[in-house]
Amino acid sequence: MPTSLAQTDTAAGQTRWKSHEEPPLTRETFEALCAFEIPCLRIKGFATDAECDELVAAMDRVGLNKTYKVPGLVQPPRYVGLTQFEKRQESKEAYFAEVEQAWREHEAVLSHMRWNPFERMWALMRDLYPEHSLTLAEEPGYGRYYAGIIRETSGGGTLHADVTMYSARDYMISQVASQITWNFFASHVEGEGGKTTLHNRPYRVQTAPGGKVEIEGFSRAYVDGAETHIYTPAKGDVVMFNSHNPHEWTAVEQGQRRMGVSTYIGRMPDGDFIYWS
Ligand SMILES: [Fe+2]
Repeated sequence: MPTSLAQTDTAAGQTRWKSHEEPPLTRETFEALCAFEIPCLRIKGFATDAECDELVAAMDRVGLNKTYKVPGLVQPPRYVGLTQFEKRQESKEAYFAEVEQAWREHEAVLSHMRWNPFERMWALMRDLYPEHSLTLAEEPGYGRYYAGIIRETSGGGTLHADVTMYSARDYMISQVASQITWNFFASHVEGEGGKTTLHNRPYRVQTAPGGKVEIEGFSRAYVDGAETHIYTPAKGDVVMFNSHNPHEWTAVEQGQRRMGVSTYIGRMPDGDFIYWS
């Protein structure tokens, strides 16, 4: 099909994804993700089976001490770490007051492992963009962010989008030009459960200046008619997608677990990268 006649989604005029393949991470595919041209990419074999098992054992040994505040979920995700979006209704001080404790809990999990999934991811990104820096996000006057959610997401996740210009308005992370999330899966999920649906309709809301926008709990009508892509978690793989696209996942079948880690990677207008959770 000639690109000049690219199919559009009639409801929103959104351009359709160029393909539903889940290509590996390259500069080209990362750029395509930032440009909303593909639903996701997949780094197969990011970790070995033994490394996956080691992470899950470390999670079980330390324990996942926090729970996402998600109305309507019987079993919301449990995690170690700290997310800015969970603090979006509170003050900036409240978020940064918890950062150092979250890093200590993060270190406690990693102390039981011989490898570090986060450092491995940063190395891949730095190899990809050697001319740009990739650093932990830092807030002027407040200090470093937390990055590195270690979590179990077995109970499913409700429809939402991760868009810092709405959920972190007063934070430097709201200045990113692109917001990509990466999810590493350390456990095997079988059957129909645990799959993530990505909706090809970047979350954009008209607001009055200073008006607040909720990034979860919005009407399903927002994604009506949008093209979708469903990805299956696979033990050892990383899946990256543009978090501005609304997304949701189903609960796993009885007896299974959906375990892994995640952060956001943001690209600043100058091309440098930051990461946070
Ligand atoms: Fe999300």
